[in-house]
Amino acid sequence: MIAGGFPENFLWGTATASHQVEGGNHGNDWWAWEQVPGHIKNGDNSDRACEHFERYASDFDLLQSLNQNAHRLSVEWSRIEPAPGEFSATALAHYRDVLQALRDRGMEPLVTLHHFTNPTWIAQAGGWDAPQTSEYFARFAARVTEELGTLARLWITINEPTVIAYQGYLRGEWPPGTRDLGAAVRVLVNLLRGHWMAYERIKSRHPELQLGLAHHLRVFDPARWFMPQDRAVAAAFNRVFNETILKSLRLGRLVFPLTRAGRASGPRQSQDFIGLNYYARELVKFNRSYRAELYGERVLPADAPRSDLNWELYPDGLYRTLRSLLRERLPILVTENGIADATDAKRPEFLLSHVAAMLRAIQSGVPVRGYFHWTCFDNFEWAEGYSAKFGLIACDPVTQERRPRPSARLYAQICRLNGLPASVELPPAPRQPAEPAGPADPR
Ligand code: FCB
Repeated sequence: MIAGGFPENFLWGTATASHQVEGGNHGNDWWAWEQVPGHIKNGDNSDRACEHFERYASDFDLLQSLNQNAHRLSVEWSRIEPAPGEFSATALAHYRDVLQALRDRGMEPLVTLHHFTNPTWIAQAGGWDAPQTSEYFARFAARVTEELGTLARLWITINEPTVIAYQGYLRGEWPPGTRDLGAAVRVLVNLLRGHWMAYERIKSRHPELQLGLAHHLRVFDPARWFMPQDRAVAAAFNRVFNETILKSLRLGRLVFPLTRAGRASGPRQSQDFIGLNYYARELVKFNRSYRAELYGERVLPADAPRSDLNWELYPDGLYRTLRSLLRERLPILVTENGIADATDAKRPEFLLSHVAAMLRAIQSGVPVRGYFHWTCFDNFEWAEGYSAKFGLIACDPVTQERRPRPSARLYAQICRLNGLPASVELPPAPRQPAEPAGPADPR
């Protein structure tokens, strides 16, 4: 039995992204993408989202009443810099008010500078496949931190570079809808370069700010442990998807396969903390016909508990991923972790088991400093529209009514205790995966 157990001043909050909650973001590439029939489930769009742009103060009141002492949000590039080099004083003032509103409520802000959306002018000039985008991003990042740096200490430059490259440039399911491995690799390099440039500029002016990236890391296990081919393919997935960016950042230079897209370098160790977005595990099975996917077919264990999006619920994966991050020798923030679960039937168990896995990692020496659940309100979940419900709090996209689910209260209890309720036991050590069945969600 355990109670408490988290370090003092541990950050407990929820995470959002501007385009998913604010509403009214009509000047970016996602908005244009949403206008094309077939791109977003049920023809949804982000026009209203959670109307958080107007409702942020009462939204923060609600989160504060649920004992959250921190909050992750992103600033919308297309609002702040609607045209190249033109910075909007009104938009900057808005985000100043937003950050001040968090501070007034005793909630530590964690600010993301780039969470998937690009201003229309960036997209029209080639998006992240164009090398000058890194430079534009660094200029934007430097300006925003110059204006808002006194209100927030913790910053994330870019959210999930690998997901941007994979979804937008390999699978083509997100803007700009490209399917080209070469482009995906170039985009990753430009994103890295953007981070490096932003890091150097910000740090030279404001060494006191703490900067990191939010990395989407997944556990890849062989579908059949006894098959050497499955083991090899799972290891390759892990190297490419989970380790390439981290290693490049550690060394300050590109590592294979990024080296195929040209040269770039930056400072060594350009992260002050690691942001970890952890959701799921995938089992990988060798399959000759999956050439474009490194010969790996991704499958789900037959008996796997899953979310509404068919992602495997695998709390041990959080423990294993946190342990693997020990090699980075940096403090860690869990910047996202959550479940699509419209009925809230599985979320309470999800929360308890993942917080327990994180606690087990901390007790074994992993320096985790905070946890941001994805997410507070049901919101515009990219290509899934409003169909995927990730919120601790239900948010009706029509009436805008906010209704805390039972798991919001459970999370409030965890935040208040700075730990798990006394009745919760730590789970046993990770199990080996079971035999697979059925396709996994690609993301
Ligand atoms: C992550 C994204 C976030 C949200 C969750 C469910 O990959 O960063 O915006 O879509 O998945």
